[in-house]
Amino acid sequence: MTPAKNPLVAFGAGKVILLGEHSVVYGYPAIAGPLTIGVVARGMPSRSCVLDVPVTADAAQKRMMRKAFARAAKLVGEPKVKVTLEPQLPLSAGLGSSAALAVATSRVLLQAAGQAPTAKATARLAWEMEQEFHGTPSGVDHTTSAEEKLILYRRVQGPAGVTGRARELKSPRPVSVVVALAGARSPTKLTVGALRERQARWPERYKRLFGQVGRLVTDAAKAVEAGDLEGLGDAMNVNQGLLNALGLSSPALEDMVFRLRSLGALGAKFTGAGGDGGAVIGLFSEPEPVVARLTRDGVRCFASQLAGPRAQGDIP
Ligand code: MEV
Repeated sequence: MTPAKNPLVAFGAGKVILLGEHSVVYGYPAIAGPLTIGVVARGMPSRSCVLDVPVTADAAQKRMMRKAFARAAKLVGEPKVKVTLEPQLPLSAGLGSSAALAVATSRVLLQAAGQAPTAKATARLAWEMEQEFHGTPSGVDHTTSAEEKLILYRRVQGPAGVTGRARELKSPRPVSVVVALAGARSPTKLTVGALRERQARWPERYKRLFGQVGRLVTDAAKAVEAGDLEGLGDAMNVNQGLLNALGLSSPALEDMVFRLRSLGALGAKFTGAGGDGGAVIGLFSEPEPVVARLTRDGVRCFASQLAGPRAQGDIP
């Protein structure tokens, strides 16, 4: 393989799960949308195929990134490129930083190998990296990042392994969330693993709960397509109650959920793996004043539009 001649640059979007995290691992649907912030990967010509890991990552994260990179690089013939990463997202907050990293890196690797970084090719390669990061991921994170659309996603277990089915959800009204950070979080692998143990011990009880979440997701998808933000918000609130019932919430997450509701959120819940801390989302028709208020109060937060018509001049 010849070295890449020009510097390459690619973006991988972060994501928020509107509804359906965790149950999506068991084959139930989820709704997720891309953030405008994510991870930027740059590729420079080099004598070998190598990843320059971000200095902000801890030792365990660095080890995992190198392993995931080696797995993806091998599949595209180890093009001679040095990949550097610029995360714009907090790592391990539930905002899909590992998927964003996998998508941005895969796009650079594909280009360096002389292949088109289509959404499909990118998702296929990023999937390999995600399996190193999370063990048994549903695939919703990297699919949302590669598609860059609000999607209704379902994991499908076929004879050739796990695949995902995604359909874009369009909304006649802007679907905008405030994303607020509520403390540090344990790795997704641990939260998913602990739930798997409870689910294996009491399968019928957990199946009922996952089934309830699945129905909420179906209702919420209809609400998005009808522009029914109140209906969507209510489904998010009930989903938060079920996530709590599944043993995935914490005082820090619940406090932030109630804070966003007291500021007028149509619906609020944690997003991603949850556990001890992480990111909480609130659905607002006017998110900017809420971001200003929370920021004044010292909460790390930002607004993101996930679907629907954009005001003129907005960055899509
Ligand atoms: C993590 O962002 C979402 C989870 O549902 C895990 C997965 O889907 O692989 C918790």
